[in-house]
Amino acid sequence: MCLVDPHFRISLEIDMSSIKVECVIKEKNEIGESPVWEERDSSLVYVDITGQRVSRWSSLTSQIESIATEKPVGSVVPRQSGGYVIGEGTRFAFVDWGKRSITTVAHLDKEKPNTRFNDGKVDPAGRFFAGTMGMELQPAVVERKQGSLYTLHPDHTVVKLFDEVDISNGLDWSLDHCIFYYIDSLAYMVEAFDYNIQTGGISNRRVVYKLEKDEGIPDGMCIDAEGKLWVACYNGGRVLRIDPQTGMRLQTVKLPVKKTTSCCFGGKDYSDLYVTTAYKGMDEDSLAKQPDAGCIFKVSGLGVKGIPPYSYTG
Ligand code: BGC
Ligand code: CA
Repeated sequence: MCLVDPHFRISLEIDMSSIKVECVIKEKNEIGESPVWEERDSSLVYVDITGQRVSRWSSLTSQIESIATEKPVGSVVPRQSGGYVIGEGTRFAFVDWGKRSITTVAHLDKEKPNTRFNDGKVDPAGRFFAGTMGMELQPAVVERKQGSLYTLHPDHTVVKLFDEVDISNGLDWSLDHCIFYYIDSLAYMVEAFDYNIQTGGISNRRVVYKLEKDEGIPDGMCIDAEGKLWVACYNGGRVLRIDPQTGMRLQTVKLPVKKTTSCCFGGKDYSDLYVTTAYKGMDEDSLAKQPDAGCIFKVSGLGVKGIPPYSYTG
């Protein structure tokens, strides 16, 4: 039975002066996204969606390795048996990093001529959730309601959870695994569903937080060890910390670039927040004013930790 989140604690007041924001991955991404921390070798794995590559950055050596994809790649997650799973174009695929090979697991959206995968994440039981969106005419401008949310189960079967999505984006689960949090960007809100961890089923859709005008477009999202949500805001140049139980915004962390796209905790004890960004669609003037657009930032000194990511078990 789902009771109140057992990890719920009143957060301590945060000393903003201790927060440090630095660009740590200087190689730029058109649309950097889907960051995921790999504890094994202290690396950050992420995608450049339209740059069509999956990359791995070592925080120890600052080396970056990349694999090119054939189509835009919306997200990457670790696979328990090694390698990764990606949502690329309209397929789920496995990546063998050593062999530099990508193999199809399933093709989706067959009846839709013009969609692609966007954000995705693994649930606490090892299922891979990823959503689609219509191809953009320009950033954040799509043919409406073309997207869907899918689950790739560990036995490789795929279930469509719902459709009529504009831009399927951030997702995560509550610490007690009873709630699924979700963002369809053009709805400008964070939503929640009751989650059945046994089946992967969702029900009882509701609103958790509505973004204010100046906050931008909600994009990627992750949960912290206190059960609060961190939401990267595209065109907002910020990450918000939201309390999903009260619907209150607890904190705003501003970044020096506008197109903040997603975030995850990583580093020692998961105490740093890594934030991906994009530069695609910016004109020369904005690029000159935001020289770090497309970089990946590390935010330290937040005084809060994340939780380790889950791996796909199939
Ligand atoms: C998409 C971008 C889009 C942005 C804003 C991202 O997740 O991949 O293509 O422009 O969200 O909604
Ligand atoms: Ca995204």
